Order: sequence, then C-alpha cells, then structure tokens
Amino acid sequence: MSAPETPPSAAYDSAFLKACRREPVPHTPVWFMRQAGRSLPEYRKVREGIPMLESCMRPELVTEITLQPVRRHNVDAAIYYSDIVVPLKAIGVDLDIRPGVGPVVEKPIRTRADLAQLRDLTPEDVSYVTEAIGLLTRELGPTPLIGFAGAPFTLASYLVEGGPSRTYENAKAMMYGDPQLWADLLDRLAEITAVFLKVQIEAGASAVQLFDSWAGALAPVDYRRSVLPASAKVFKAVEGYGVPRIHFGVGCGELLKLMGEAGADVVGVDWRVPLDEAARRVGPGKALQGNLDPTVLFASTDAVEAKTREVLDSAEGLEGHVFNLGHGVMPSTDPDALTRLVEYVHTQTAR
Ligand code: CP3
Repeated sequence: MSAPETPPSAAYDSAFLKACRREPVPHTPVWFMRQAGRSLPEYRKVREGIPMLESCMRPELVTEITLQPVRRHNVDAAIYYSDIVVPLKAIGVDLDIRPGVGPVVEKPIRTRADLAQLRDLTPEDVSYVTEAIGLLTRELGPTPLIGFAGAPFTLASYLVEGGPSRTYENAKAMMYGDPQLWADLLDRLAEITAVFLKVQIEAGASAVQLFDSWAGALAPVDYRRSVLPASAKVFKAVEGYGVPRIHFGVGCGELLKLMGEAGADVVGVDWRVPLDEAARRVGPGKALQGNLDPTVLFASTDAVEAKTREVLDSAEGLEGHVFNLGHGVMPSTDPDALTRLVEYVHTQTAR
C-alpha cells in the first residue's frame, strides 16, 4: 500500500508540529503522556462502570476523554484515548486490562502454533478508531491529535509473559533461545502495528508516537539485532505521510541513538538523561521530547518550577523541543499542578 502525502491539516502550523519538524516556534509546546486518565475527576466520572477496553471502542466516549485534558490544561496536543493492546484485542487475542495491574493475556504466546493465531489487522477491525478520530479532528480544529501504538517489543513482552513483568524472562528466553520464532513474532506485530498507525493517520491524526516503554530492559546489542528491525519496519510503513513519528521508551538512555536510527523524527527521553546529553547521543536531525520526572509534580510549586527550569535550560539550543514528562502522569497527581506547569512552560519560553 502506498502512503500518500496527506494534505496539510488545520494543525499544520501548530507549535507542536513545528517543534517536531524542528522549525521555529512561538513557545515550547507541551503535552503529557497519560494526560487523559485517572488524574482527572471528569475521567473517573465518565469511566464509571465501563471496563477500560470497552471504553476504547465507544467513539463518543473516546472523543470526550481525549478532549478533557485539552480543555482543562491548555496543552498543545491531544493524544488519542486508547491503549497499546487495542489492536491485539481487535484481532481476537484473549486479553483484558486489569485495574492497577495492566494488560493480562489469557493464553501467552510461547510456540510457533501460538504465533499462528495472530492474524492480520484490517481497518474494519478498528472502525471505531476511524469514527472517533473523525469526530475528534472536527472538535480539535487547529490542535493536533497524536495517534499511537505499542512497539513490537513492548507488545511482545505482554503477549509472551502473559502480563506485566519486571524481568521479561519468557520474552528474553524466546529472543535468545529461538531467535527465528522471536523475529517472526516481532515481524507479525510490526505488520499489525503499521496498519493500526495508518488507520489513525488516514483518519486525521497529525503525529504518531510508538511506545517501546519496556525496551530499556535490553542491552544495545540485543536491541539492535532483535528489536530494531521490527520497529524500523513500522516507521518505514508510515514514512510517506509527512506526519512526525515519535519514539519513546523508559530507561532507554543507552538506546537513544538506536531508537532514532529506527526511523523516528522525534526521540522521547525519560528523566534519567538530561536533554543536552540526549541530543549528543541521538545526533543531529531529530527533535527531542521530554523530560520532567513525573514525581516532581508531588513537590511544591516552587520545586516544580525549579526542576522545569532545569529541563528548559538543558533544552536550550536543541533543534526542536517538545516538553513532556519523562513518563506518564501518575494517577494521584493533582491536575492543577499540570495546568500550572503548562502555563509556566508557555510563559517561560514565549518568543
Ligand atoms: O492520555 C494518554 O496518554 C492516552 C491514553 C493511553 C492509555 N494507555 C490509556 C490507559 C496511552 C497512550 C496508553 C499507552 C500504554 N498502555 C502504554 C505505553 C505508555 C506507558 O505508560 O509506558 C502501556 C505500557 C500500556 C499498557 C497499560 N494499560 C498499562 C501499564 C496500564 C496501567 C494499569 C493500571 O491500572 O495501573 C494500562 C491501563 C490504562 N491505559 C489506563 C489508561 C487511562 C488506566 C486504566 C483505567 O483508567 O482504568
């Protein structure tokens, strides 16, 4: 399938998309990973009694939840409300998202016969995504919408382990012990992920983020050999749309260069590596996103501002900077602290 250059959207001249393209910006754009979610009372209210995965399949509800943080915080971009396991659910994988736990897979994928059950994703499988993004882009006007997907390694970690893991022992056992099965699994996931991102872009998403949240568990040599090819395939598949591609993982300081090389236009950085050092590691030609420690938001306003100032100072001179947290908003965060943070970054960086 060829990837047509989509016509410039209403969001084309937004600060967020300009920063991703490394163009001059009126202020540093801000959004937060997990900005939609449990930190907001209005989210908890509309989600009451509705299981997580079901909520992702209701276009009106998805639209409302995606818009909530935009209304409240004046962030520079919306992120589509969904989850990384939605495309797997859509092809019939028996999984659920358990509150306080995360994705749990009923029958983990450990053998070639298990792998055969992962069928292709078609746009019709996720028609609710197309519908919700249609509604959203109309409501958002010039505010960009970020689509997203889980990267092959992070999806594989849930599928092979059967749920969240600290050690990834089953996934790594497959990676080291049966490299052909592992490569085939990641390639399968890359195809599914590519379709899922294309659906979002064709429906109107004006940037995409590939979450390889748990890739930090890997040594660079293993990432390069056993994971990068699959992530690169995903990025390649969406290259022709002219839509910025963001790549993020936690604890990936040693992988930043490789994550850029996989095909990202913007590399997301967690709080462990200062942005100036991250820029040296990533090299020229890419924007950076990040990287305030999300737990800083539990400190006083003065402390939040001082730590934010440090992030902005280390971003001085970057080719492009999108302000974000180093990982997702924690559920117990005071939403007013987030609103104040957006305002602070905007005023501090106004040009
Ligand atoms: O605002 C946004 O960022 C958009 C929505 C979003 C969700 N999940 C909604 C969600 C996004 C971008 C994700 C991505 C996601 N999901 C990742 C990558 C990002 C990251 O945090 O590293 C991962 C690893 C997952 C898998 C997953 N889903 C986890 C670990 C959890 C948390 C489990 C828990 O209860 O603590 C989920 C559930 C989930 N996804 C929630 C939300 C708002 C919370 C569940 C709820 O509200 O009932």
